[in-house]
Amino acid sequence: MSEWRPDSWRNMPIVQVPSYPDQNELKQVEEELSSYPPLVFAGEARNLKAQLADVSAGKAFLLQGGDCAESFAEFHPNNIRDTFRVLLQMAVVLTFAASCPVVKVGRLAGQFAKPRSSDVEVKDGVELPSYRGDIINGIRFEADARIPDPRRMLRAYSQAAATLNLLRAFAQGGYANLLSVHKWNLDFVTQSGAGERYQELADRIGEALSFMEACGINPGEVRQLQGTDFYTSHEALLLGYEQALTRVDSTSGDWYDTSAHMLWVGDRTRQTDGAHLEFLRGVSNPIASKVGPTTDPDDLIRLIDILNPSNELGRLTLITRFGAEKVETYLPTLLRKVKSEGRHVVWSCDPMHGNTLSATNGLKTRPFERILQEVKRVFAVHKAEGTYAGGIHLELTGQNVTECTGGAAAITEDGLSSRYHTHCDPRLNANQAIELAFLLAEALKEEREALSGTEAA
Ligand code: PEP
Ligand code: CO
Repeated sequence: MSEWRPDSWRNMPIVQVPSYPDQNELKQVEEELSSYPPLVFAGEARNLKAQLADVSAGKAFLLQGGDCAESFAEFHPNNIRDTFRVLLQMAVVLTFAASCPVVKVGRLAGQFAKPRSSDVEVKDGVELPSYRGDIINGIRFEADARIPDPRRMLRAYSQAAATLNLLRAFAQGGYANLLSVHKWNLDFVTQSGAGERYQELADRIGEALSFMEACGINPGEVRQLQGTDFYTSHEALLLGYEQALTRVDSTSGDWYDTSAHMLWVGDRTRQTDGAHLEFLRGVSNPIASKVGPTTDPDDLIRLIDILNPSNELGRLTLITRFGAEKVETYLPTLLRKVKSEGRHVVWSCDPMHGNTLSATNGLKTRPFERILQEVKRVFAVHKAEGTYAGGIHLELTGQNVTECTGGAAAITEDGLSSRYHTHCDPRLNANQAIELAFLLAEALKEEREALSGTEAA
């Protein structure tokens, strides 16, 4: 393979690139960005990699979630707080159910660029370039808004920096302490329409906390219970932006993309001879690739060869997204192939992107039941194949939106338009996300029990 440089991707075939009308301005902005401070520190990315190594060994579970597309319009401290809070609430339920650490990664502080299935959008006979995320152009259906504007990268950087700053404060400043998170879960159980179904698990967590307190362990005083590690991730789609934030780490001498702890390549840009894999292969962050119905098993091994040639633990996560009814058709072949080739990966399940459909009113939605079905089927397939379902990747928000149908509040297709705010794909709202965590807890517990049974045998 030829030598890697932060810009070697520029010589490779690339898809999903915006056409900026002013290339000079683009260059200037990229240069300016490359002089800005890194958003994350390489040592943090290494810590995340070590935790993901534990996931690939079956000793931890990965929870990754956030907006499909962050937007400038929804940038508000309450939105950041609420998404963070939902992820923590889910993590506590999953940690307890699985009796193992949950690695928390937010699709946050940089998830701005979107791949699109079409370059153009047509409305009432008018054709305009597609919206590609706030880091590139505007969502407003007007010709001027849709022109790619490089200066948006500077705004995205500054929003990402402020978001990360607040997340770090929440994670370490006392907001994330275990007692508060448990209290929020109790509030959920009381308020949710299906609350009594989750009461037992919540009660057991409460008992465990009381027991700890009786033993003299005060969550307010123990660092591990007072705060939490929280990491960020986004799709490495807009490579000019990613390159500008790619720096040599002075401690190790390795290259890191400092725009986030973890970067992934999407289903539309993971070509093995393409620019996106070329960029990602050279940065030392933990990385991920989406895997879907069009992933050929031999191609998947080629992708792994490119992204993780030394078979490093924790380096590569494969995020599978098939659609509930397609899991059994595609997943077993891929699991067998990766296993027989002896490759270490984290298998994570994205039950969102294969389950999108158009409601009768034309809005994109995802039925809660299908999302849950995909998760359950993925767990069942891993169990049958003797592999570890190590994570879940969700599109969610802490807001009370109406974008996915179903859940305990039984959002209907007709009800979708009342609070439909997403800039791209439909997200689970706070209650749907926590409900999913409670339902997933069962599957995870079973998986852990089967795993410890195998170890004991
Ligand atoms: C996404 O995660 O928002 C996305 C576009 O997913 P995929 O690449 O799997 O379609
Ligand atoms: Co999406």
